[in-house]
Amino acid sequence: MTARLLEGKLFARMIKDEAKQAAEALKPSLGRMPGLAVVIVGEDPASQVYVRNKERACEELGFFSALIALPKETCKEELLAEIDRLNANRRIDGILVQLPLPRHLAEAEAEIIERIDPRKDVDGFHPVNIGRLVAGERSLVPCTPAGCMKMLALAGIPVEGKRAVIIGRSNIVGKPISHLLLAENATVTICHSRTENLPAIAREADILVAAVGRPNFVTADMVKPGATVIDVGINRIAPKKLVGDVDFEAVREIAGAITPVPGGVGLLTIATLMANTVEAARLQMEGKRERTK
Ligand code: GUN
Repeated sequence: MTARLLEGKLFARMIKDEAKQAAEALKPSLGRMPGLAVVIVGEDPASQVYVRNKERACEELGFFSALIALPKETCKEELLAEIDRLNANRRIDGILVQLPLPRHLAEAEAEIIERIDPRKDVDGFHPVNIGRLVAGERSLVPCTPAGCMKMLALAGIPVEGKRAVIIGRSNIVGKPISHLLLAENATVTICHSRTENLPAIAREADILVAAVGRPNFVTADMVKPGATVIDVGINRIAPKKLVGDVDFEAVREIAGAITPVPGGVGLLTIATLMANTVEAARLQMEGKRERTK
């Protein structure tokens, strides 16, 4: 039987609708709709597409959005000063610095991310937010992993007690999604480039997450019949052809549910960014209330 297709469009719509409702519920106490600032340095074409889509999503939901486009030769000090201004800007609830940064700034990436006020860190990349996630505390969570979890919940796919195998250990996807699955009581295994017998481990998964960045890495023999397969890969194999990490046509005949690429989890990322912007606004408002008590 062919797998159930988990289409990103449907779940992204639900996540955005929920974020809009939450923003409108918050508006009377916040005095305005939430605001997101996106900082882009240089002219990476893929980044420019993402940034435009983020602005479009803000517009669609009635959020305030600020785009700070800095020239590619911007130095670290200038970028940090911009982050300081956004941290202090009361109209801005969420700050996102688009990655990758130009080469001369790449080695300062950690310092740049750490300059963002953790309560405004809608990417969930700040060590404070990573620490809170690992500790099982309320935090801002990286958008793609949070979107995948929301999709599982909305699709009615159970996580508790299930075997989850994640292929890939990146800070943006692999590590955070493993903690989110653990928090939902899955039994979690993380595989990576040095893992021995990876296909056998993958075959034990009820939920298999592929986040390696290699086309056709997950083949049908690595998938347990009926498993849920989440493909987080985005690989450009020709100027106009994007594929995931999963051999989609073969795996869809084995899996119980599968996300396509394109049209899968990629669409959840920006929808979740909107939800995170509302959460950031709420966190800061609650923080202010605490301090004036
Ligand atoms: N570049 C690609 N994906 C992302 C993301 O989720 N956040 C940021 N800041 N940059 C990205």
